[in-house]
Parts: sequence; C-alpha cells; structure tokens
Amino acid sequence: MRVLNFGSLNIDYVYQVDHFVQPGETMSSLSLQVNCGGKGLNQSVALSRAGVETWHAGCIGPEGIFLKDRLQAAGVDVTFVRQVEGSTGHAIIQVDPTGQNSILLHGGANGQVTESFVDEVLKGFSPGDVVLLQNEISCVGYIMDRAAELGMSIALNAAPANEKLAGLPLEKLDWLLVNEVEGAFLAGTEDPEGIARVLTERYPRTMLVLTLGVQGSLAAKGDRRVRMPARTVKAVDTTAAGDTFTGYFLRGVLEGRSLEEALGFAAAASALAVTRVGAADAIPAYDEAMAFYRG
Ligand code: RIB
Repeated sequence: MRVLNFGSLNIDYVYQVDHFVQPGETMSSLSLQVNCGGKGLNQSVALSRAGVETWHAGCIGPEGIFLKDRLQAAGVDVTFVRQVEGSTGHAIIQVDPTGQNSILLHGGANGQVTESFVDEVLKGFSPGDVVLLQNEISCVGYIMDRAAELGMSIALNAAPANEKLAGLPLEKLDWLLVNEVEGAFLAGTEDPEGIARVLTERYPRTMLVLTLGVQGSLAAKGDRRVRMPARTVKAVDTTAAGDTFTGYFLRGVLEGRSLEEALGFAAAASALAVTRVGAADAIPAYDEAMAFYRG
C-alpha cells in the first residue's frame, strides 16, 4: 500500500528562548538553528522512517531545494515536489526551557498547490492507496473530494485549526487526527470525552484520534473508545511530536495492527522525538521506535 502525502514543506527557524516573546517586548534568543520542517514534510519523513512507501507532493521556492533533497534522503519519492516562483514556506519557532514551542507560519509556496497540479498528481494513484493531508497547503478540500471519487482512503491531521479547516468536507475522512486544541475548535467543547462524542456523531464513518500531550491519546469511532497513556520522557523540544505520532499511527493501522498497538507504537515514537531538538531530524527510525515501544 502506498501513501501520498500532499503537504507543506517549510524552512524552520528555531530559536531557543528563556520564555516566549511577549507583546511589545524585544528579546534576544539564546541560539538559532535552521531545520527542515513543515507538517507535511515531517509526516512524510515519519511515514518513511516507519517503513511506509511514501510519496510527497507539494510546492517549494528555489531556496527550498534542500527540503526536497532531505525528503529524498529519507527514502520518500519526491517526483511530485514542484519548484514554483516565490518563497518557500517558513516557520519561526520559539522553544522554551521546558521544550514547549510557539510557531509562527508563513505559507509561501505551500499556497501554490493548484487544482490542475492536484489532478496531475492523483492520476498516478488508485483505489486502495492512501492520501494524507494537513491544513498547511491550498486546495485541501479539493484533494479530499478528488481522492474520495478515486476510492482512496483519506487521513487528515487537522493542524493548524483555522476557518479553512471548518469548511473542509471532513465527512469523507477515514482517519481524523487532532490534538486537544484542534479537537476543541471542531467540536466546540474542551473536554476530551465531549470532543470524541461530538465528532464521532458528526462523522460516523471516521476514526477519530485525539492526542492529549502528557495525557496520552484517545481513538474513537461509534461507541468504541481506546485510550493510551503517554510515555514519560524528558522533553527538550515538542516540535513534530504530532507529526511523528501521525506517521507511526498510520503505519500501525495500515499494516493491520490493533488500535491499541497502533496508538502505543505512535506514542513511543513521538516520545522519542521530543527528547531531541528539531522537527524532521528528531523523528526516530522504525527499529529504535519499536525497541522503545517494546521496552
Ligand atoms: O508540526 C511542526 C511543524 O509545524 C514545524 O516543522 C513547522 O514548520 C510547522 O509546519
């Protein structure tokens, strides 16, 4: 089974800070790293490291060629990574001493995904293939409509949560992955059980996966609920924790593991990712994640 990830590619400017900069404050950072990122790119790296045959489709500007090289080095097929005019998407990321982050995005080339590009890419895929999406590129709704017509399975990591997300045809999803903020945005309630109830009633054919940080995760469909505790680690940078979780969870369900196993494997992989600085570079390889899961 193949996974097409139609998603963002960003240059991440990661600043270590004492605290997140406040309104009106001018503050010096402690250090700067320039990393490969974007929820799309990170999730393709996670899928590929987890052992899934992965295609990435998306747009970069000329200065973002190294992002395509990075994906290719991770074993991702980059035939559909297109260079366009204009700047590559980027993110300004502050990381505080507890590992928490604060992210400011500039979409750049990620906003240049067009319907004709989508049609061209989808020609290469068939019923039974999976398309993975996040909410950082243009045409997400169009991709969902066309992929559903083609008979592909559709997974959405609904990040970031904004007005565009609310307008998407989420009833077409096979898997909807949200964190507590995105879940509350969609469901209109902050309580995890309430989020699960509202979204499973609204999207009865969709498997909902709600990640809750140190509280673990919850999968829900119909009346079924599966809960998984988080793994306890010392976090140094939580960037890409959700991206790692998404890639490893999909690997688990696509290879036919139980929900409990898929959630546990994803929790182990994302726990390892937060012990390292960076986004794509922090994502563990399959063997390491499996050893930690079993250990
Ligand atoms: O999920 C982490 C990612 O969000 C970062 O790599 C950044 O680029 C933003 O897309």
